[in-house]
Amino acid sequence: MTAKITTKLLSIPKIGLGTWPMNGPSCSDAVANAIKIGYRHIDTAERYENEAAVGPGIATGLAEAGLSRSDLFVTSKVWWDHLEPAQIHTALDGSLKRLGLEYLDLYLIHWPSKTMDLPAALKTLEALKADGRVKAIGVSNFTLAHLKAVEETGIPIAALQVEYHAMLSQKKLLDWCRPREIVLEAYAPIARGKFADDPVLNAIARKHGVQPLQVALAWLLNQELVVPIPKAQDFGRQKTNLDALAIRLDAEDMAAIEALPKDQRQVKPDFAPDWD
Ligand SMILES: NC(=O)c1ccc[n+]([C@@H]2O[C@H](COP(=O)([O-])OP(=O)(O)OC[C@H]3O[C@@H](n4cnc5c(N)ncnc54)[C@H](OP(=O)(O)O)[C@@H]3O)[C@@H](O)[C@H]2O)c1
Repeated sequence: MTAKITTKLLSIPKIGLGTWPMNGPSCSDAVANAIKIGYRHIDTAERYENEAAVGPGIATGLAEAGLSRSDLFVTSKVWWDHLEPAQIHTALDGSLKRLGLEYLDLYLIHWPSKTMDLPAALKTLEALKADGRVKAIGVSNFTLAHLKAVEETGIPIAALQVEYHAMLSQKKLLDWCRPREIVLEAYAPIARGKFADDPVLNAIARKHGVQPLQVALAWLLNQELVVPIPKAQDFGRQKTNLDALAIRLDAEDMAAIEALPKDQRQVKPDFAPDWD
């Protein structure tokens, strides 16, 4: 059972399993295994085209671990060209059907679009919440300017999902989110393994007798209102990542990681907003 972060708007397990780009039976097996070894939080999206595999993985994992639906936190997302109200309803229907679930714990706008009617989209998400089909709502890949526009609608969001890891600063977004109790979900939290050889992470790892990528995860887990969602298909790596919850970094470790370069963004699709 993983620890949770609880705010006014949601109670979310402190680490989740990312599922992109898994698919098919191996995706179902990975999700089922993750639940069996202690993950209580699964991240997917209509765009990942894997909900039909994630769903059976959830069912198997819950059954084999003797758990019920309410023990698990499931997030999905609506793609950026489905943000008209009727499209959002259709997208959620599809996600729930493929996942075999009656509700989502968190439903996110996956990316902002230049043409979206943000107030209308958020109002629709809020109506889904009122219907009980989603328990909490949020956004992903929104900039500070987008978050200010969200606030102007008066519709509160529970979470923001963005790329965040030891080599990328999200200070501006965290400074906005923390006073508002908006959880920051960190995607690509180990930067897809790219910095496993970094000397600073390796030195801290040696000091604690752990692995460098576990240190990168522990740096996120040690931060207020931050929830990493590492993806691992490999069962051993799933366990390694979960075990990062037990690592306690000291102030010196945290400062050394803070001092690493913070401009190494990994996810840069052509439809991304201007991050500055
Ligand atoms: N909202 C968005 O726009 C957005 C964008 C990107 C990602 N996401 C979400 O965030 C999740 C995580 O991000 P990500 O998958 O891009 O990157 P990531 O979690 O930083 O990295 C995943 C990669 O690292 C490997 N890995 C995992 N644990 C490891 C370990 N302990 N040691 C060595 N290698 C390890 C995985 O290998 P194996 O799988 O082979 O074990 C996989 O190749 C995604 O799956 C998705 O759910 C959201």
